[in-house]
Amino acid sequence: MTSPALEAFPPGTGAARGRSAVDPAFSGTPDPLGLLDLLDVFGEPFVRDPHPWLELLRTESPVHHDPGTGLWLVSRHEDIRRVLLNPEDFLPDNAQHAVTPLPVSVLRILARAGFMLPPALANNGTESHAGLRRLVTRFFHARRVEAAVPVIERIAGELLARVRSTLDAAGSCDLFAPYAQILPCRVLMELLGIEDIEPTTLIRWSDASLELFYGRPSPERQPELAELVADFHRWLTATVRSGTVPEDSFIGALRRHRLPGGEPLDVRTAVAACFFVFIAGQSTTGQLIATVLRRVSSEPGLWTRVAGEAGLAEAWVEEVLRREPPVTTWRRLTARAVSLGGVRLPAGAPLLLMLMGSGSDPEVFAEPATMCPYRPEIRHHLAFGAGRHRCPGASLARTEATVALRAAARALPGILPADGPAEPPMLGLLSFRAPLEVPVRVP
Ligand code: HEM
Repeated sequence: MTSPALEAFPPGTGAARGRSAVDPAFSGTPDPLGLLDLLDVFGEPFVRDPHPWLELLRTESPVHHDPGTGLWLVSRHEDIRRVLLNPEDFLPDNAQHAVTPLPVSVLRILARAGFMLPPALANNGTESHAGLRRLVTRFFHARRVEAAVPVIERIAGELLARVRSTLDAAGSCDLFAPYAQILPCRVLMELLGIEDIEPTTLIRWSDASLELFYGRPSPERQPELAELVADFHRWLTATVRSGTVPEDSFIGALRRHRLPGGEPLDVRTAVAACFFVFIAGQSTTGQLIATVLRRVSSEPGLWTRVAGEAGLAEAWVEEVLRREPPVTTWRRLTARAVSLGGVRLPAGAPLLLMLMGSGSDPEVFAEPATMCPYRPEIRHHLAFGAGRHRCPGASLARTEATVALRAAARALPGILPADGPAEPPMLGLLSFRAPLEVPVRVP
């Protein structure tokens, strides 16, 4: 019998399937200089500065087969939008597949925890998606987010008071772990009514999940990550099963949810929905806040201006989403043979939509390399996807990042980047990229 974890990650997902699916008749436009042969989406040069590679892809091979991952990299704004808006031809089924194949020993660790990812939200192309999505949207729609601003401000204020003490005592500090990373986690816990877990534990589990499924961990690292993911899954399952969750909480709503046929939602799907929301709802926003703080504090004079100038913090958050979003790519699978960007793709071809590069497509954005917070087309980026699966947390993410930036600029006036010309270490996963440190110092 196939183990549940094996069913969740069928053999041939990620690298293995992509390679074997390639037929010479379906090859993309050749890259005349062969530079794209050097592309490694997990490699240091790409993670450090993806833009030259993304430009090369857009101009030379906009639908490009990448032998390293087995994925077809789609890099033009127009093609990406077309894929996102056509869920019949481009399925979301592979959104959460492990890009680095999981060996049997790792699958066993996950199976022992009952780990499965049945279609729930981002990976759900079935008829149960609309109802589950509506449930999520109810918790994160714009009015609810607006009402949560005092909560975000209160938590930001508490965290910044501690950052201020460190800064006063040491003269320098990091804004990532004690501020950018933990703020969205604490906000999400309050909004979802979660109290019985330390935010740092939730962050550790969430980061491990991202690295296991979207990273290139070594064979030694994979079991360590799988143990953390298994613990996360056990806790989620126990929480979903527990009779003590408040009726009006997110998990309470999942327990009351009915599928299109009228039957109650099964525990596994409820856990899979929580698994996605508990990760998407905080890690990505922490990554966005880290990039925003880094960019704004590095721009001479800007830190002081965002503290006081109405609308400037919002506009900078939007420009960072366009040019340097935390969710750099997203995956889809072709349902049938289709043509995309002049390339014929077979059925079952796994696509990697280069969301980050699409925000710098000159067909849509004038002078894309320039950060221009008042550009007219500022919201045309695809950082939150588009169509049926468009991120329902976009409003919360934008609001949290704006509040976090403005609050930090007011509480820590005049701070400067502390790392000089050296770049900080970067998180570089298939779909997630952000600084892992935001070192700052007093002037
Ligand atoms: C800066 C922060 C964030 C970014 C860049 C981001 C980005 C994305 C992207 C690219 C997708 C896939 C869209 C598609 O397939 O068309 C997505 C889906 C999703 N995001 Fe976010 N997200 C962020 C924050 C959040 C937050 C705060 C939440 C929840 C509170 C959230 C919940 C979700 C959910 C549930 C989905 C799946 C929706 C569906 O399949 O219908 N995200 N997000």
